[in-house]
Amino acid sequence: MGNKKEEILPDREFALDLLRSLKIQHSVRRHSEKVADKALDIAKKITKVKVDLNLIEIGALLHDIGRTKTHGFKHALIGSKILRERGFSDKLSKICERHILGGLDKIDAKRFGLPEKDYLPITLEEKIICLADKHMAGTREVTIHERFNRWFQKYGRSKILLKSKRRIEEIQKEIERLM
Ligand SMILES: [Fe+2]
Repeated sequence: MGNKKEEILPDREFALDLLRSLKIQHSVRRHSEKVADKALDIAKKITKVKVDLNLIEIGALLHDIGRTKTHGFKHALIGSKILRERGFSDKLSKICERHILGGLDKIDAKRFGLPEKDYLPITLEEKIICLADKHMAGTREVTIHERFNRWFQKYGRSKILLKSKRRIEEIQKEIERLM
């Protein structure tokens, strides 16, 4: 164990240096730091099961690393690839891949032109980061309701957004039950 690929997790400084070396936008870095703070806040309230705080912190810091290449939904896939290629834990690349909206299923993925498969947060750490990300509009903390209302105003109450809101509310409830 210890040195196996699935175990490799950079520390905070390494993660921030990596973002800098890929020339991440200042606003994206600030957002990622806020998502990390929020995700840790949520995680520390969980009492009923064990949560990997280290993975949450680093995963949140790197969840938008793909935005160094594109701001479209593909940033999740690209971010996942960047982390995989650098030999980091598969847990980190999955966090990246599964943080869009409340997760995307195969049908959503197809509609957005992504390779057809599910991108749904499965592990608790993935769910916590996905939820924390929805709570941070840039660096401003918002409720899930506010977050989705802004998207509804911008894109309309599309099926995909409504489905996504239900998904993230489910995730929120599941996490609250563990507190
Ligand atoms: Fe993102």
